[in-house]
Amino acid sequence: MRGDLSSVLFTEQEIQARVRELAARIDQDYADKSVLLVGILNGAVMMMADVSRAMRIHCEMDWMAISSYGSGVASSGVVRILKDMNTSVVDRHVLIVEDIVDTGLTLSYLVENLRSRNPASIEICAGFRKPEAVAARHVEVKYLGFDIPSDFVVGYGLDYAGRYRNLTGLGILDPKVYS
Ligand code: PRP
Repeated sequence: MRGDLSSVLFTEQEIQARVRELAARIDQDYADKSVLLVGILNGAVMMMADVSRAMRIHCEMDWMAISSYGSGVASSGVVRILKDMNTSVVDRHVLIVEDIVDTGLTLSYLVENLRSRNPASIEICAGFRKPEAVAARHVEVKYLGFDIPSDFVVGYGLDYAGRYRNLTGLGILDPKVYS
């Protein structure tokens, strides 16, 4: 897999160090609350596993699947719920866990959708954020791993055509792979 990257943006060690910092902040902020982590499949699996295990407070976990991309490299802008949560969010402190905020379309839809279900609070934890989401200010990411360039990145849950999610770091996919 490493040979398909044009560069490595963050190593496994760098990501894990940042995840521990985020988890410590979450521990503090939710010390006296019961937090419900909502992971967005499939990309957030790694982030959810690592953030939750770095936390020292109790949490519950649930999952949603939302599609905004096809198998290509550009966002289609189409948002669909493929799988809803099993848990009610009414009066719960919800923390959405995502791998990446790209255009912000997925999260702006999701936050609006979950807010209409009357949670006690709703915040976002995401591994990576691209410039378009920063510029558009679609969503406020309270717990952010890293701001990254707009290149097509893979690893740490992020895929190209279903592959590369199991790379432990984050890298820029060499255009030769998809051109
Ligand atoms: C990716 C990612 C986010 C979304 C971000 O999911 O996991 O959910 O795109 O893009 P946006 O900010 O432009 O909306 P994707 O639909 O590729 O599914 P996946 O998690 O299964 O890879």
